[in-house]
Amino acid sequence: MALQLGDTAPDFTTDTSQGELSFHDWAGDSWVVLFSHPADFTPVCTTELGRVAQLNDEWNARGVKTIAVSVDSADDHVKWIADINEFGKTDVGYPIIADPEKSVAEAYDMIHPGEGDTSSVRSVFIIDPAKKVRLTMTYPKSVGRNFDEILRAVDALQTTDKAAVSTPVDWKQGDRVIVPPTVSTADAKEKYDDVEEHFPYLRTTTGPKQG
Ligand code: BEZ
Repeated sequence: MALQLGDTAPDFTTDTSQGELSFHDWAGDSWVVLFSHPADFTPVCTTELGRVAQLNDEWNARGVKTIAVSVDSADDHVKWIADINEFGKTDVGYPIIADPEKSVAEAYDMIHPGEGDTSSVRSVFIIDPAKKVRLTMTYPKSVGRNFDEILRAVDALQTTDKAAVSTPVDWKQGDRVIVPPTVSTADAKEKYDDVEEHFPYLRTTTGPKQG
């Protein structure tokens, strides 16, 4: 069965472009964005992996480690990184997992036979410091991902973990958030700042009162 939200992210020991690692140990106390791509030396993938490297400061600011995976070898990954760096004017500092046996791809259900062959599709797993799968996305091989959206999703997860709130459509850091429907508007006005009642079930706020 496919991994579901709230499941523990499967652990594995693997070769990567940076040598062998054990996934849970490598993740440590960080959030992780684990993302697969179909193959090295392919165009969409080259743009995607460069973008992830360009966003390095953004991942660091959120305590996120990134790690890529495809069914190619570590030697191929190392050779390909030179192209990614040249095209993206960047420096890939994160590991790329070598998965020729497809054990990581199978554990994370990244191979979708309807997508043409036995390479991985473009899967994304956002994993929290407790190693729980918190958000997944699956893109077909022909469609490059938007990593700004993945950063936004990390922001939303971290915000909703810190306080009892939800995030509305298109929310971004600093925007108003939503008071849980289980809290009455009267209680919300005591617990949250600047509460606005749009409907009895839809109340927005700048966030919980501090102190
Ligand atoms: C690409 O990265 O361009 C790509 C790789 C595999 C299938 C389709 C596109």
